[in-house]
Amino acid sequence: MKLAGKVALVTGSSQGIGQAIAVRLAAEGARVVINYRSNPQGAEETLSKVQTAGGDCHLVEGYCDNDRGYSVGADLGMVDDVRRLIAAGIEHYGQLDILVNNAGIEKHAPFWDVTEKDYEAVLNVNLKGVFFATQSLVQHLRETNRPGKIINISSVHEELPFPNFTAYCASKGGLKMLTRNLSVELAPLGITINNVAPGAIETPINTKLLNDPEKLGALLKNIPLGRLGQPQDVSGLVAFLASPDADYITGSTFFVDGGLTWNYQEQ
Ligand SMILES: NC(=O)c1ccc[n+]([C@@H]2O[C@H](COP(=O)([O-])OP(=O)(O)OC[C@H]3O[C@@H](n4cnc5c(N)ncnc54)[C@H](O)[C@@H]3O)[C@@H](O)[C@H]2O)c1
Repeated sequence: MKLAGKVALVTGSSQGIGQAIAVRLAAEGARVVINYRSNPQGAEETLSKVQTAGGDCHLVEGYCDNDRGYSVGADLGMVDDVRRLIAAGIEHYGQLDILVNNAGIEKHAPFWDVTEKDYEAVLNVNLKGVFFATQSLVQHLRETNRPGKIINISSVHEELPFPNFTAYCASKGGLKMLTRNLSVELAPLGITINNVAPGAIETPINTKLLNDPEKLGALLKNIPLGRLGQPQDVSGLVAFLASPDADYITGSTFFVDGGLTWNYQEQ
């Protein structure tokens, strides 16, 4: 139980990678604050799995949710909501030690057709939300004079191009420099920050791909380990980075991609 006594908040934890992370951190002894935007059933499922995994879980969506059935949407693309979410976690448990910035979206379009609305949707959730969630946590840790750990779920696309997803790549590339910069600025406070960069993981974000045998087959050929990743492949690394074993690790990106990123082959 490497995280006993710790409180973790995982954004976008009603499904996919975020759900797996919430469950894994709970299994390591952390109490977990779950966040969702539009999928309360998913959050209930996460809550139930977290409880089974051994955690003491409090369901939050933007506001403190002490009453059953009372929940308000926490849109990670809106700074007021982000601040309310962090404040609610602190209010409920009296502390927050670990923040996993997982919520993320992507929008497909050729560059010349990208709308301002879609650009903003992607950048707001994937970068602005991370920026201000992290800021709120850091303010709390400074005020209480305690160390902390921040883990951002980035993507192999903080390095690799992804045509037709330029806003997504810009957001994840931005996360790379946010993490490097904050590793320096936050180190004197005893706060570490790292990125986890998944490759192709089997989650709802990839529904279209999973239903397209031709594209899926081509992708699998590019993955040296020969399979898609599972959310649990990502959550184990997050649990390590959140633990005392990672106390001396900050400012880095860790790829969980089955070897995809460096699989350049001469034809
Ligand atoms: N699945 C992959 O192949 C893959 C690869 C690289 C990176 N990632 C990253 O992993 C993270 C999790 O993705 P996933 O694969 O589990 O996808 P997913 O679509 O299953 O989950 C995304 C989560 O983010 C939440 N979310 C989206 N917009 C939100 C908002 N405005 N406010 C609050 N929550 C919001 C969703 O509710 C959902 O829980 C994302 O940041 C994604 O970019 C995924």
